[in-house]
Formats: sequence, structure tokens, C-alpha cells
Amino acid sequence: MTTVTSALPLLGLRFTAGPLELRGISDDLLGPLADIAVAGIHASDSMPFYVPWSTAPGEVLPRNFAQYHWSQRAALSPATWSLDLAVLWEGELVGVQGMSTKNYLVTRTGETGSWLGRGRQGKGIGTAMRQVLCAFAFDHLDATQITSGAFTDNPASLGVSRKVGYRENGVRRVERRPGELAVVQDLLLTPEDLVRFEHPLEADGVEAFRGLIGLDRNRY
Ligand SMILES: CC(C)(COP(=O)(O)OP(=O)(O)OC[C@H]1O[C@@H](n2cnc3c(N)ncnc32)[C@H](O)[C@@H]1OP(=O)(O)O)[C@@H](O)C(=O)NCCC(=O)NCCS
Repeated sequence: MTTVTSALPLLGLRFTAGPLELRGISDDLLGPLADIAVAGIHASDSMPFYVPWSTAPGEVLPRNFAQYHWSQRAALSPATWSLDLAVLWEGELVGVQGMSTKNYLVTRTGETGSWLGRGRQGKGIGTAMRQVLCAFAFDHLDATQITSGAFTDNPASLGVSRKVGYRENGVRRVERRPGELAVVQDLLLTPEDLVRFEHPLEADGVEAFRGLIGLDRNRY
């Protein structure tokens, strides 16, 4: 019988590595993740994201958050996809780790992005979840490289990139919030530079996800 997971195998992806679990963001996780975001991801005077979604008032953020994830699912195709995964640490929901890409069958590259609730930051979880997603992309999705970018005033994100093995790949000047200049440090990771998480990665749902994004096309 067809289920929402068999129709969209993104939702059936699940990785485990020691205390860490990453899994597709099914609808039942949208509310709890939005609650973590409403409770706070960063100080009110800072903005780590290109789109300042995290400062929306608490009464609208959950809807915006759910609609964003539904829009990403709705638009998913081999030409454009976002692999957004809920992150659990020792069984508790703590944040989101993602990778998005365009024309992946040709480019074999994706851009990582992530967030954790404030109470879960600074404990190595951000490093572990990025290590696991990058290992998945290299080992199971045939990625050639992975990129990331962080504002130069975001030492935690830059710290994760440094620890995972990304190299600096130029800077860009952008308008962050209206009238505000910010500088983005671009970063680039290759398979040989990846510093892996200490626990091995086990991944479920890989074959169906590869089919969804157009890899192994002869089988689907
Ligand atoms: C970015 C984020 C995911 C990193 O995850 P994290 O679990 O906090 O990071 P880690 O604990 O794995 O730290 C990684 C490195 O950065 C360093 N670091 C973390 N927070 C830091 C801070 N506030 N200032 C300076 N260095 C910091 C750590 O010391 C560590 O290096 P070390 O082990 O050599 O000491 C998390 O902080 C977060 O969600 N921040 C808000 C949202 C955000 O910035 N998202 C990314 C947008 S590009």
C-alpha cells in the first residue's frame, strides 16, 4: 500500500550514529521543531540566517516554519531538492540539519545549513550532525563536494565548518537585514578533507531516496 513515506522517500530517511539521529521531517515533527525555534535559536540582536525567519513573532513562526518545509517538499525534484532532517540527540529533538542543491545529477554538490535550540548549542552536537550529513552525501549520494557559508560574525557555524574540514572559499558582501551590510565566508568540503564523527553512520531508506532524486534512474 502506498504511504506518504513511499510517495516521498525523503520522509523515510533515517541516519543513526551513536547518540545522534537524523530523520525526515514528517508532519508530527513540525510542531515540536517550531516550538524549539520559538523558544530561541540566537540572541535577538544577531541574525545567522540569510532569510531572517527565526525572528518572526511566536504566533506566526510555526505556520511559516511548516509552510516552508511543505514548500520544500512540494518542489522536490531531481532538478531541485532540499534534504532537511530533524536532529535528535540521545532521543530528544534538538534542531534541523539540511543540504540543498540544484541540478545535482550534474553538479554533485550541495549547500549545508543547520540550527539548534539555544540550550543545545556549544556542546559538539552541531559538529556531529554536519559530519554525519556530509558523510551521508559522500558515501551514499555520490557527492563530489559540499559547500557552506556563514556570516563572519557567526563563530559557532565557522567553528563547525573548520572542525568538519571545510576550507575557506572566498567572501561575499550582502545586505542581511534592511540597510545592514554583512560578510559571508564561503566554505568548501571535499571527501578527502571530511573529518568524520567518531561513531559510524547507519542509514535507512537510502535506495528509495536515491531514486527520488534521480540517481539509479534505471531502477525507477
Ligand atoms: C551553528 C550551530 C549549528 C553550531 O552548533 P554547535 O553545537 O553550537 O557547535 P559545536 O559545539 O559543535 O562547536 C563547534 C566549534 O565552534 C566553536 N564554537 C561554538 N560556539 C561558539 C561561539 N559562540 N563562539 C566561538 N566559538 C564557538 C566551538 O568551540 C567548537 O570548536 P572547538 O571544539 O574547537 O572548541 C549552532 O550554534 C546554532 O544553531 N547556531 C544558531 C543558528 C546558526 O548559526 N546556524 C548556522 C547558520 S550558517
